[in-house]
Amino acid sequence: MFPNQDSPMRQVMRAFGRGMSVLMPLAAMVAAITPAAGQPSAKVAVSADAVEWDEIEIDLSKGPAARSILPGPLTNGLSYSAAVRHGPPDAAVAMPGSYFGPTLRAWKGQVVTVRLTNNTGIPSVTHWHGLDVPSEVDGHPRLSIDSGATATYRLPIINRAGTYWYHPHPDMATADQVYAGLAGFFIVHDEEEAAAGLPTGQYDLPLCIQDATFDASNQRIYNPGMVPGFLGNRILVNGKADVVHSAATRVYRLRLLNGSVSRIYKLAFADSTPMMVIGTDGGLLDAPRQYPYVMLSPGERVDIWADFRDKPLGARIPLRSLAFSSNALQGSPVDIMTFSIDRPAFENRRLPARLSHIERFRLEDAVNATNPKVYAINAVGGGPGGGGMRFTLNGGLFDMMAVAPNEVARCETLEVITVTNTAGMMVVPHPIHFHGRQFQILDRTVTPTGLANWNTVKDGLVDQGWKDTFLIMPGETVRILVRHGAYPGLFMYHCHNLAHEDMGMMRNFLLTP
Ligand code: C2O
Ligand code: CU
Ligand code: CU
Repeated sequence: MFPNQDSPMRQVMRAFGRGMSVLMPLAAMVAAITPAAGQPSAKVAVSADAVEWDEIEIDLSKGPAARSILPGPLTNGLSYSAAVRHGPPDAAVAMPGSYFGPTLRAWKGQVVTVRLTNNTGIPSVTHWHGLDVPSEVDGHPRLSIDSGATATYRLPIINRAGTYWYHPHPDMATADQVYAGLAGFFIVHDEEEAAAGLPTGQYDLPLCIQDATFDASNQRIYNPGMVPGFLGNRILVNGKADVVHSAATRVYRLRLLNGSVSRIYKLAFADSTPMMVIGTDGGLLDAPRQYPYVMLSPGERVDIWADFRDKPLGARIPLRSLAFSSNALQGSPVDIMTFSIDRPAFENRRLPARLSHIERFRLEDAVNATNPKVYAINAVGGGPGGGGMRFTLNGGLFDMMAVAPNEVARCETLEVITVTNTAGMMVVPHPIHFHGRQFQILDRTVTPTGLANWNTVKDGLVDQGWKDTFLIMPGETVRILVRHGAYPGLFMYHCHNLAHEDMGMMRNFLLTP
């Protein structure tokens, strides 16, 4: 399929002619002007040299890459690569030998300017998932640039410390490009996190979980279904299959990201190691919370305090996805990776009782407390056997510039938004994501018919802390409290099952000053 070949999904989409793909030339791309290179400032260092920089400049490119994933032939795909032009060396660090993108790292308060060159041979644009950035650099599909062009993204880092990520966002081709290998971590640090005393360095492990299917010559096959999306038959972690991570008898901070096109995971260690959650999409929780397992749908992140201190040397601890039920072929059990405890180490670090301060939003403070915005998930177009069906959000499919009256809000207001997943010919799980926002889950309700599926996942829904993506199960209604950002302009919200997104399960959201 890569990069020029048409996937079956794209052929189907063309046949349906959903929306217009308006690709603007570089000149029309609204890109902030790169400021003069910042000088290391007098800012007081907290715990690393990195904080001494006000401005970081990174050259990022995306283009064809052949990488080793399985034994045997290399796998062709697309990868990001980076060079730090100005800033500390750890502002962009490649994952050795992996197709998965370099990990970008910044401190809250810094400005990261990314000059991104598209060498993929196809139009593309990059989105900074979870970061609150101006509309012009948010990765809206209207800002796609042609291959050979460069876009400048000036990103003032105003988010709190957390595990964010970046990936392409072109209209109708996001799944293709992420599946081909385009995604990376964007980690933000701040002083509150540094004071929490969590594991750092090699004990702070970002782990991106993806799935894929390969042909006999190790090339990726993309064969999505309309309803589930794409479910691959191999699990990859940071771009590698059958990962065994050599670990010490230490505490690890695992930053888990679901970078899969469609697959939802129900994560637990195969032994008795607790799933101690310390963070979610928007950074640290107020306090650690233990779960029997953790649901992680595409786009979501969760930080785990993994304590291997009392493990015997030689122990092998699989991280698994457990069985659950859905209406969408999701939920087969599968092994994700294995931690091999092969080194003794001493550590007397304690799980902090308090991790961060979180201001709890209250429904009564929302400007629309008695009149929530309601976005229904539904479906259109299903012929006999479901062929041609596509999922809709708020009654419509994606349209490049269209904004419905209930998709407008004033900057910086607090709103309550209700998402319902109770209608349509196929009611299936969806990960719903809002660009630029970190919101709070107010509550969930589920219809009696949804209960059987819901009971298999409910104890692992981490509705704590700050979220930018949440799983909504069949029959569920989820209410969230959202404080809109300070940047006016066009943003988006969508299903992060990328096959659904590409089929139009995405809408614009307009913030007005
Ligand atoms: Cu990670 Cu618009 O998404
Ligand atoms: Cu996003
Ligand atoms: Cu969906």
